[in-house]
Amino acid sequence: MQTKILRVNPRNPSISQIRQAAKKIRSGNVVAFPTETVYGLGANALDSKSVRKIFAAKGRPSDNPLIVHIFDIAEIGILADNIPNMAYDLMERFWPGPLTLVLKKSKIVPKIVTGGLDTVAIRMPKNKIAQAIIREASVPVAAPSANVAGRPSPTMAKHVREDLAGKISLIIDGGPTKIGIESTVVDLSKKTPMLLRPGSVTLEQLQEIVGAVKIHPIIFGKKTNTIHRSPGMKYRHYSPSAKIILVEGTKAKQKISQLLHQYKSQGMRVGILSMEKSHTKSDLTRFIGSNPDTIAANLFKSFREFDEKKIDIILAQGISQKGLGLGIMNRLGKAAYKKIRA
Ligand code: TXA
Ligand code: MG
Repeated sequence: MQTKILRVNPRNPSISQIRQAAKKIRSGNVVAFPTETVYGLGANALDSKSVRKIFAAKGRPSDNPLIVHIFDIAEIGILADNIPNMAYDLMERFWPGPLTLVLKKSKIVPKIVTGGLDTVAIRMPKNKIAQAIIREASVPVAAPSANVAGRPSPTMAKHVREDLAGKISLIIDGGPTKIGIESTVVDLSKKTPMLLRPGSVTLEQLQEIVGAVKIHPIIFGKKTNTIHRSPGMKYRHYSPSAKIILVEGTKAKQKISQLLHQYKSQGMRVGILSMEKSHTKSDLTRFIGSNPDTIAANLFKSFREFDEKKIDIILAQGISQKGLGLGIMNRLGKAAYKKIRA
């Protein structure tokens, strides 16, 4: 399959280009497009046959459910049942934006979308291109991140091309995504809301609106025997081919320089993922910023760059888990081959 890449102005998307993408979705095909978080791979959420193409292109396990993207808040009533008031409070505050709500699903949502669960994840994206495509498609759009399963989520159209060229017919290139890590996912299908995936809508912000929020133990990398309320989280994720070693604690810096010398003396190519300006010499030191917004925006891109430079080991120092830091540390933790306290 030939993969066409269409460059679209993210501030003022041309309607004829948007309609090309929307038409593909309406006719049962998949299209990759930018959202404010990461690129998504979208298809008509109400059509099982179309949704199956997403799973096939990504090589995604069928028990890992998809997020349904909407343009108009009214669609929520069609897709979900028993919507609690809390959900409306959160929508009012954070939509459109990087917050996904897990609600009881209605009959209209095909099982394939929800991986067999009786809940459905819904979000209204903020990116203009995403909004216009969903509007013009006039159907809810199921869209996971547009990467091959297990690879880091794409934050640029070229990442989508690296993973999915030949497997999908259209990629909408709207430039780099603003946020860089996937949306916050919160489950509202039980009495107390539960954070299933931290993102740029922070735990602290959620608590301000809804009060108590449980945190799924897997967010901290804990093993759990409870049924996974977010099946996607059990899969190793976001990983570059290089092995990430995540070092936390007061002596992290010293530990990182010790490991750098140790692995280099074993003949390995060692990279450093740096979140403060440092002059440590490695085969590739990638400074991805010192504030959480910039770190999030550059994180997945840096994973791919280490792979391009054929780095064997990536040494990374942990950051504070406050605010967006929780989402960043969750992604780093999930990508990590090993975590060390120093
Ligand atoms: O920012 C984002 O959310 C991006 C963009 C494209 O919107 N999408 C994204 O989708 O990250 P994906 O499929 O890569 O991640 C969806 C996450 C998975 O962890 C999945 O398990 C969880 O949402 N999820 C989806 N439906 C669920 C449900 N019914 N119950 C619990 N978790 C669910
Ligand atoms: Mg994903």
